Amino acid sequence: MKKSIKEYFVPWIKPLKMYVSNHIDLAWKKPSLHRMMSNENPIPPSAKVLKTIKKYSAIANRYPDQGIVIRSKIAKMNGLDGPENVVLGNGSSEIFDMIYRSFLQPGDQVIQQTPCFGIYKLRTVLLGGEIVSVPMIYKNNKMFYDVDAILRATTDKTKAITIANPNNPTGDFMETGDFVRLAKTGIPFVIDEAYIEYAGLKKSQVALIKKYKNVIITRTLSKAYGLAGLRLGYLLADKEVAMKIAATLLPWNVGTITMWAALTALEDKKSLGKRVKFNNEQVAFIEKSLSKIPGLVVFPSSANYVLFDAAPAGKNGKEIIEFCQKKGIILRAISSSKHKIEGWFRVTIGSKKENQLFVKTIKEFFSK
Ligand SMILES: Cc1ncc(COP(=O)(O)O)c(C=O)c1O
Repeated sequence: MKKSIKEYFVPWIKPLKMYVSNHIDLAWKKPSLHRMMSNENPIPPSAKVLKTIKKYSAIANRYPDQGIVIRSKIAKMNGLDGPENVVLGNGSSEIFDMIYRSFLQPGDQVIQQTPCFGIYKLRTVLLGGEIVSVPMIYKNNKMFYDVDAILRATTDKTKAITIANPNNPTGDFMETGDFVRLAKTGIPFVIDEAYIEYAGLKKSQVALIKKYKNVIITRTLSKAYGLAGLRLGYLLADKEVAMKIAATLLPWNVGTITMWAALTALEDKKSLGKRVKFNNEQVAFIEKSLSKIPGLVVFPSSANYVLFDAAPAGKNGKEIIEFCQKKGIILRAISSSKHKIEGWFRVTIGSKKENQLFVKTIKEFFSK
């Protein structure tokens, strides 16, 4: 008997839908809105990057190579042997996909802490895997990583632990000793360092790779380097591990223009320094300006966003997000199945003017 096409889909894809970032679509539709929701960089690419984009767009008829030059550069920047320690992805989102594909079979588990970046879950369930969310501890107006709970949550089915450092949306770092405890489990341990450059590579856990073969570091050029639209992410790992994960690579996943423009950005330390300085000053401005509001919890951030909890001030995060949107600012709501999140909202650092507008708008909301 002829079966319907629906029956041919693998069972775990049946309940899934295409992932749509409504807030990003809205921002593209209405360019007058202030994009303070996706942790993008407000500073456009440098003149040097634009020059490289132009140069390589003239040979866009050619397929890219495997990015040996940029992979060598990345390895050197991180004190690793060479390109075999590095795998490139179409953004680090694709890197998570490659890692989970390499380790998971249907029914296997990935442990994450919550709240965190949503892609870990999306790419896990797509493989028929299960995401196990371990809540961070919310205490004394701060969020803490709960490593004991993560260790307790590990089972024979755990095929990856993923921790963002600093975490999105909480903005904080986990202690090095805790990384070692998780590395020692031997379970593939993915440390997502998407925002590491804002605090500097000295905060990276990349040195663990040399001691623990199960440690994999992920990075992106979407944040401090300001190239979110070009899509370049990478992983750093032991050679053998990296080259095994590379077997999942979709050939030519990173285009010529992207990889050479990214190399230019990596080489331009001055431009990165400028972006980081601007960001960190603006984080301090927002944190200082709004920490004066009684009852508003401002979580200290080492990245390009700041998380708030307005509940202790008796306010609702959703109402604040709606209020800001009426004033032309798009913010991001936070999801965590394990916390009371009514008061939470997150802002991404924008231009100086946008940050001033955000502060003014929040003050206005609280004075209502
Ligand atoms: C923690 C974290 N990791 C990774 C990413 C993904 O970045 P991309 O796919 O642009 O490299 C993001 C994006 O917001 C993020 O917040």
